[in-house]
Amino acid sequence: MKRRVAILISGRGSNMRALLEAARDPEFPAEIVLVLSNRPDAAGLDLARANGVPAVAIDHRAFGRDRAAHEAAIQQVLLEHRVEIVCLAGYMRLLTPFLVQAWAGRMLNIHPSLLPEFPGVDTHARALAAGVAEHGCTVHLVTEEMDAGPIIAQARVPVLPSDDEDTLSARVLAQEHALYPKALKILSDRLGSQT
Ligand code: GRF
Repeated sequence: MKRRVAILISGRGSNMRALLEAARDPEFPAEIVLVLSNRPDAAGLDLARANGVPAVAIDHRAFGRDRAAHEAAIQQVLLEHRVEIVCLAGYMRLLTPFLVQAWAGRMLNIHPSLLPEFPGVDTHARALAAGVAEHGCTVHLVTEEMDAGPIIAQARVPVLPSDDEDTLSARVLAQEHALYPKALKILSDRLGSQT
């Protein structure tokens, strides 16, 4: 049985697209049953619909400062679609402990650095400023501490002397698109026959 997966996005959704493409393989152990965005204008929503995947926007602005109510609405849609694994893919909202705990061990995030190096934002600029020789991306389980959960998989790229933020981020993004499906497969296989 394929694991039922939701992808949470906020924007262009290129990692979402990579997951959709991987999930077309009949051998892939997961299927994408839902794409959810906190922004109604996220480009990824149209792409998901074009692929026949239900795509729902739950605009956080409609909930004002009430993060709990926004997350409760998200959780309801996840449960309605009988989701088993949640993949954060460029989802630009910090989650509260409610949603993190509800999906403990079953929620992945992709982060554009070799964690534990460079958690948070502006990872490519910070890697360049630090003068590191290698950079990359990480898929990890989501825990309450941001970008700090158990690592499922990483991919490395060299940092070249000629790099700027654009060239480096493009090199990392190409690796992200290969890494996320690999990590989702690892987690799906790991969950095995668990319910
Ligand atoms: C990616 O770099 C991802 O690592 C980060 O946000 C970006 C999302 O890009 N968390 P996309 O929406 O998947 O194209």
